[in-house]
Amino acid sequence: MKNLCTFISGGGSNLAAIIRAIQTGELDARINRVIADRDCAGKNHAFQADIPFTLIDRKLEKTTFIAELLDSVPADTDLIVLAGFLSIMPRELIEKYPRKIINLHPSLLPKYGGAGMYGLRVHQAVIENGETESGCTVHYVDNGIDTGEIIAQSRVAVQADDSAETLQQRIAPKEHELLVQTLKTLLQR
Ligand code: GRF
Repeated sequence: MKNLCTFISGGGSNLAAIIRAIQTGELDARINRVIADRDCAGKNHAFQADIPFTLIDRKLEKTTFIAELLDSVPADTDLIVLAGFLSIMPRELIEKYPRKIINLHPSLLPKYGGAGMYGLRVHQAVIENGETESGCTVHYVDNGIDTGEIIAQSRVAVQADDSAETLQQRIAPKEHELLVQTLKTLLQR
């Protein structure tokens, strides 16, 4: 059985999707720890599923933040899953876990990634640029922001009357599916 360590910063709907897939037997894995960089609603999914939870405040001094992250990832971790983690992944972790950290992003990368591109800002930019499709991407994490090798994508049509909010609402369930499917594929390798 493979061990996933999941990093979150927000509502944790993607964490919940992974937990659900494990509970229903769709995903043969275990989450060994949830790590958050701020107090966030997503921690409740960890509590409800009895998963160890660690908060490492992003406002800590940088070297302390990095040291605590390194210490908190359990030794038996097979894959680190960034499921809405908003801090930049420190180089030290990327070097320690080569091709073992994946991230989920709510656009068709390489479009609409990079610094400041998160949450509704992504969908707002997609609409302002008149895109006819958007979607979500799972990619390996490298030292850039949203620049790592793309593993899988899911596409969603942008409708003429979409707002950033309605587009986000249609992409969210696609993210849940894409993340679980990608984990299934990666963990079978
Ligand atoms: C998702 O849109 C994901 O693509 C992005 O952050 C969001 C996390 O949502 N990286 P949630 O906290 O899993 O609900």
